[in-house]
Amino acid sequence: MSHAGLPSEAGLAFTPEGGLSLPVADAMIENVVGLFALPTGVAVNLRLNGEDRLVPMVVEEPSVVAAVSNMARLTREPVGIEAECDDSVMIGQVQLSRCRDGAAEAIRAELPRLMTLAAGVHPQLAELGGGLRGMDVRELRYDEPGFEPEPMIVLHFYLDCVDAMGANMVNTIAERLAPELAAITGGDVGLRILSNLADRRVARARVEIPAARLSQDELDGREVAEGIAAAWRFAYADPYRATTHNKGVMNGIDAVALATGTDWRAIEAGAHAYAARSGQYRPLTTWRYHAESDRLRGDIAVPMQVGTVSGAIRVHPTVQANLRLAGVRGARDLSMLMAAVGLVQNLGALRALATEGIQHGHMRMHARSVAIGAGASPTELGAVVHALCESHDFTVERARRAIEALRA
Ligand code: MEV
Repeated sequence: MSHAGLPSEAGLAFTPEGGLSLPVADAMIENVVGLFALPTGVAVNLRLNGEDRLVPMVVEEPSVVAAVSNMARLTREPVGIEAECDDSVMIGQVQLSRCRDGAAEAIRAELPRLMTLAAGVHPQLAELGGGLRGMDVRELRYDEPGFEPEPMIVLHFYLDCVDAMGANMVNTIAERLAPELAAITGGDVGLRILSNLADRRVARARVEIPAARLSQDELDGREVAEGIAAAWRFAYADPYRATTHNKGVMNGIDAVALATGTDWRAIEAGAHAYAARSGQYRPLTTWRYHAESDRLRGDIAVPMQVGTVSGAIRVHPTVQANLRLAGVRGARDLSMLMAAVGLVQNLGALRALATEGIQHGHMRMHARSVAIGAGASPTELGAVVHALCESHDFTVERARRAIEALRA
């Protein structure tokens, strides 16, 4: 059974063109020559913090939406996915070089004044429950072997951006602070920009699945759960595997990011840097089988720099519709939803890899694209896909022969 319940209220702007008009697109970026459409799908069955959620996903890869729906169904009982997330704290950086001696101490002595100054740039944030959360003075050193070492001071400030992604607010504050810092240190101002390693804005989700729910074909649930945990240990041990593992996690997160008008490059950059924070690139999720409870436990922690009040959200009708469809209540809510989707997506990939292999499901979905590419009409599609799967031949040529046979 699917748990969907699509909201029926008017105004969900799902149109064949993707909801974006050329004039609006032209105002969004430069040198616009057209629009570019991708499929929007809706994953179902997700139970997050006790609530059923629909998940809009924009993605070109087959199996992604189906995997979320299928795995979400497996995770619904006993409690579904549980998630929480940090406040929406972004980090801003102001870099200074060639500073006079004692410059770091001089900045530290001025921090109360700098805090007041920075807090005054976006006073509305405090009214919304956010605002400036602190500052740190970091003394760094460029020390690449064979090159002249270069000391630098970097001021970090922390801004709770509430429901905004926050890039513009952070960058404005960084630029406002820079001349003050130059005066305090006698140094040269370098970069003034946010950090996409948003490790103070982490979303976490977890799930416990009774192993019996994971059984597949002749494998019992415990074997599948142990297989998933073993697949995770491979990713923990090996960055080559961890990269593919995390690509699967990001299949889900990026698709929701696209659907909700989020800057997915920021999320990608932050996720991968966070995955490498120990010095080795590791998986973003953890999967362990607990024999005592006979349950598979999964966890994810990933920085989420998302907004629900600015950027593409303001202008893109489909983004607005997707946010409504998912019932998004703000940036932290969206962050938790995305983390949950990443976790469930990863479960789908590992379960397939630990059992029948990924190609079984993938090739069935791929067969649809091949059949359409070969010219199958909607009524012929099912039969052509069946013919490709039966013959294990997924070439366009085979699809054409199947279409000819049907039409004959
Ligand atoms: C394919 O898009 C994603 C996977 O390769 C992820 C994984 O290997 O875990 C299936």
